[in-house]
Amino acid sequence: MARKFFVGGNWKCNGTAEEVKKIVNTLNEAQVPSQDVVEVVVSPPYVFLPMVKSILRPDFYVAAQNCWVKKGGAFTGEVSAEMLVNLEIPWVILGHSERRALLNETNEFVGDKVAYALAQGLKVIACVGETLEQRESGSTMDVVAAQTKAIADRVSNWSNVVIAYEPVWAIGTGKVASPAQAQEVHDELRKWLAKNVSADVAATTRIIYGGSVNGGNCKELGGQADVDGFLVGGASLKPEFIDIIKAAEVKKSA
Ligand code: PGA
Repeated sequence: MARKFFVGGNWKCNGTAEEVKKIVNTLNEAQVPSQDVVEVVVSPPYVFLPMVKSILRPDFYVAAQNCWVKKGGAFTGEVSAEMLVNLEIPWVILGHSERRALLNETNEFVGDKVAYALAQGLKVIACVGETLEQRESGSTMDVVAAQTKAIADRVSNWSNVVIAYEPVWAIGTGKVASPAQAQEVHDELRKWLAKNVSADVAATTRIIYGGSVNGGNCKELGGQADVDGFLVGGASLKPEFIDIIKAAEVKKSA
């Protein structure tokens, strides 16, 4: 089964209501490949989610940037998976490296969040990736495998999971992974899934790349056999996000 190209825009903690409306207007006016070719999901901060959902074109979807690890209740400042479901927010990003690093989210905690969100009916963009130190010490695959294992230990149905491989050293730094570096890890991750989950999950689960993706580097990255799309930070706030969505076309000629 072909894996549909997936382009996510992670707006992180950015934007005013006016700026957010402007970004949505740009997206709404854009000519992009059809939904059969590319799945587009944008992730505004929580407070803008209902507004973005209400004004965004119907062929694009929204994602939250996080959700609580279990049922809501006395957890000040958190937003539960149930609330996202209630507002018909279909997707959630979990395990982003900024949360792992700055908010001390462990592999197990991220795994628990992924399992809980899936059980509530959300679709999950689950992020994994190594730091520069880990890459330089040769432990990239061990790190990424351990992060993925914590998810695999808790999840049996992978049909609503997209894995985002985001090397921490490439996020927000302008130092994009080379197409060969991205392909190598995506290929290894797919082999890990084949060995530890199933051949079917390995063949069908989308593994997208994130970290300094922009309008200039997206085509070559997207042309790699195991790169099934992108999770885009900085460039998702700019009109070049449209070019990144259009990179889905590279798979047609592949
Ligand atoms: P970046 O962020 O594109 O700004 O590097 C990617 C991400 O954090 O998802």
